[in-house]
Amino acid sequence: MTPSALLTRRIPSSVLASLESACAVELYDGPTPIPSDVLKSRLQGKQALISVLTDRITAEVLESATDLKIVANIAVGYDNIDLAAAKARGIIVTNTPDVLTEAVAEFTWALILSAARRLGEAERYVRRGAWKEWKLDFMLGTELRGKQLGIVGRGRIGSAVAAKAPAFGMNVMFATRRAGTGRHERQPDEVSLDELLVSSDVLSIHTPLTPETRHLIDKRALARMKRSAILINTSRGPIVDEAALAWALKERLIAAAALDVFEREPEVLPELFAFENVVLAPHLGSATRETRTAMADLAVANVIAVLGGRPPLTSL
Ligand code: GLV
Repeated sequence: MTPSALLTRRIPSSVLASLESACAVELYDGPTPIPSDVLKSRLQGKQALISVLTDRITAEVLESATDLKIVANIAVGYDNIDLAAAKARGIIVTNTPDVLTEAVAEFTWALILSAARRLGEAERYVRRGAWKEWKLDFMLGTELRGKQLGIVGRGRIGSAVAAKAPAFGMNVMFATRRAGTGRHERQPDEVSLDELLVSSDVLSIHTPLTPETRHLIDKRALARMKRSAILINTSRGPIVDEAALAWALKERLIAAAALDVFEREPEVLPELFAFENVVLAPHLGSATRETRTAMADLAVANVIAVLGGRPPLTSL
């Protein structure tokens, strides 16, 4: 019998064609994210699910999907999937690492530069016709050269962001989950999160969302940061307590923030709109044509491998 797959979003047609050569494909094109009851009913008789990060693949969904062999998430993050429940049912879960590393690192730098040089604020100023004259001391930003970039997490993306720092004359320090634990000796460029918070001029988060990292950047953490510091988040929204961030900005405990991810996407805490020194982006980290195609391609390759009885390329 030909296996079948459910796709919760349209993917590039060339990638879709290769999926269709391996199985029957059903494309969900209703309101997003796909509601849980719709997901459950559409998964009946399906061997594969290709999901995106806004789809909630809960234990309940997995339990009802009795034919499911693989969930291929088109994202490097997989906090939207109950991995333990999938493992318990023998369902393979895959993500799309590596192919998006450079795109996310580039976008992180776009946010660092935008926040440091007040690009969002400047753009709004010009667009509303407020620009009347050039002034020597107008809209001054902060220079990156000679400053410390603190990176929370030393995985692929954190390392790729760090690799670009010398081009801007920044020195890099990391805080990692493993540093200082028995398994991982702390490297000379690794410090505790607390030390990173107090010493960094730019703090960029590159760690997965887990119960341990939820609200890692809370009131206490923000209060430890330099008043001149810039906070960047391109990982997952709930790692930063948004209400605490709004408080820290109001109290001027940090200088600026740039966020690509939010606690309740696509909602943004309304208080954040009031700050000129906050750059807001709609979860665009991996959003280049090249990368999004490569991500879909990798998810499809994982599905084709598993349906063909082979191990996936990127299993979790
Ligand atoms: C994007 O946020 C991803 O996890 O790929």
